[in-house]
Amino acid sequence: MLSLESSTDPRWVDVALGNLDAVLHDHLHCELKAASNATSLVARYAMHPRLVEGLSELAREELVHVQQVFAEMGRRGVGARPPGEDGYARALRRALDDKRGDPLLDRLTVAAVIEARSCERFQLLATHAPTEALRGWYHELFVSEARHHRLFASLAEELYGEAQAQARLRALAAREAEIIAKAEIVARIH
Ligand SMILES: [Fe+2]
Ligand SMILES: [Fe+2]
Repeated sequence: MLSLESSTDPRWVDVALGNLDAVLHDHLHCELKAASNATSLVARYAMHPRLVEGLSELAREELVHVQQVFAEMGRRGVGARPPGEDGYARALRRALDDKRGDPLLDRLTVAAVIEARSCERFQLLATHAPTEALRGWYHELFVSEARHHRLFASLAEELYGEAQAQARLRALAAREAEIIAKAEIVARIH
């Protein structure tokens, strides 16, 4: 369902739960980047009504997630700082930088894969987080990011046809599995 070619290393759960404050800080910036990427797509591709409709709603939801993460950080006394390097997203964009793709198709594909990996990891946190409140919250995020993944994948299919969209998604999912396998296991969403 999620188009991923690999599962998260089980050791990630221990690392993440060992420093949930760091995971939350990274998560805050993931949500901010998701909102900002969606609004930037709406601005650049305003000629596609389904995209405008879907991604403006998605941006709104990501901003609600920003507020939720920020509130949880506040409860835990975790301060926010500017974002660090986003090596994961950069590696994904570079993986598609082969001149074969269309810029919008590639942006939708990268976003679909990022949503899929976030979703997979929220599901792990929904199972293993230390309190019922956190498990419930991560479950809601899991449901929401799964829907976002489907939205990006379906926009790509509508605009480029199923065959082309799915081929691009499969190609990136394969590269993403390599990127994740090579990356250090750290207390971040990805
Ligand atoms: Fe989100
Ligand atoms: Fe999302």
